[in-house]
Amino acid sequence: MTIIVTGGAGFIGGNFIHYHLKKHPEDRVVCIDKLTYAGNLSTLVPVMDNPNFRFCKLDICDREGVFKVFEEEKPDTVINFAAESHVDRSIDNPGIFLQTNIIGTATMMDSCRAFGNIRYHQVSTDEVYGDLPLDRPDLFFTEETPIHTSSPYSSSKAGADLLVQAYHRTYGLPVTISRCSNNYGPYHFPEKLIPLMIANCLNDKPLPVYGEGKNVRDWLYVEDHCKAIDLIVRKGRIGEVYNVGGHNEMANIDIVKLIIKELGKSEDLITYVTDRKGHDLRYAIDPTKIHQELGWLPETKFADGIKKTIQWYLDHREWWEEIISGEYQHYYEKMYGNR
Ligand code: NAD
Ligand code: DAU
Repeated sequence: MTIIVTGGAGFIGGNFIHYHLKKHPEDRVVCIDKLTYAGNLSTLVPVMDNPNFRFCKLDICDREGVFKVFEEEKPDTVINFAAESHVDRSIDNPGIFLQTNIIGTATMMDSCRAFGNIRYHQVSTDEVYGDLPLDRPDLFFTEETPIHTSSPYSSSKAGADLLVQAYHRTYGLPVTISRCSNNYGPYHFPEKLIPLMIANCLNDKPLPVYGEGKNVRDWLYVEDHCKAIDLIVRKGRIGEVYNVGGHNEMANIDIVKLIIKELGKSEDLITYVTDRKGHDLRYAIDPTKIHQELGWLPETKFADGIKKTIQWYLDHREWWEEIISGEYQHYYEKMYGNR
């Protein structure tokens, strides 16, 4: 089987490529990635020499370039991870989110149609459901929860999901969609909560907690997400949406305190800063469908996953130090300077 994976130089796509080439060494994996600020070729160094792997530096909105790769590779399956993924950046500059997340998705699906109705999987997010109140722990997102977005990021992802469903109904494209909760693990770009707090802790820098730190996220170890996608692609029902999450809800401030404790630092580093605009209160996934239909369950407990993740950042300082020494400095100053 030949699989095109977009966004493979990013956090989840990169972890997926490592997972896939280990689990299915007979498959060919072709990565399409534009290498935006969030893409790091160093993430793919361990597989670059694998004869079953090819990297193409390409924008998923580049129709001609994408069609050429399809013509050369004749893929059986496409998994679309590529996206602008950071909510704060979408609040600052929505345009590129609409371009990559919506137009890019359409371009990938047009290629699938043009080359023989190729199997297409869209990597989506629980953020398309909006948020849940903090005082209703009995409520969860199911696949039937209406789309109700808050940020330009989540709106662009919801737009993409609607297009995927439209391509299925209108053209019969064999699609599936997964909507996952917050991931954490190796190769996570240090603009996101967990790697940012680990990096800042290790550099004894202030830890910027938005608002009162009470917002809740449902954290899943990235490898568990990769396993879920692999299952959906192989055994999922065509046209269906699958929620992916691990019933592991935690308030941001508790995550930050845990990282401080693991690294033996002081809580004095915590700095409460101005809240994110439109900040979603709580995400919580009901994963009953993927469990009952495909037998998926998260395997890594948060207590183990966070230790493994912190250890990875300690062991791979060069990976994240290179990132935070470049353009990231300007981003950080702009995002946190006057907060
Ligand atoms: P990321 O920002 O770490 O990586 C995105 C990758 O896409 C980068 O390598 C980047 O270079 C590439 N890319 C961006 N624009 C591109 C374009 N126009 N053409 C080609 N490549 C492009 O993102 P991530 O956290 O790994 O998220 C991957 C996917 O999973 C996204 O679709 C995101 O919406 C979804 N998701 C993420 C999470 C999470 O917790 N991180 C949870 C649920 C769903
Ligand atoms: O739920 C899935 C989503 O999870 C994905 O679709 C997104 O691509 C991914 O970025 C993530 O979105 P969040 O906005 O939840 O992740 P982030 O790491 O940016 O923030 C997590 C929480 O931590 C959120 O409540 C905001 C807060 N936060 C974040 C940062 C970066 C802080 O308090 N301080 C910070 O500096």
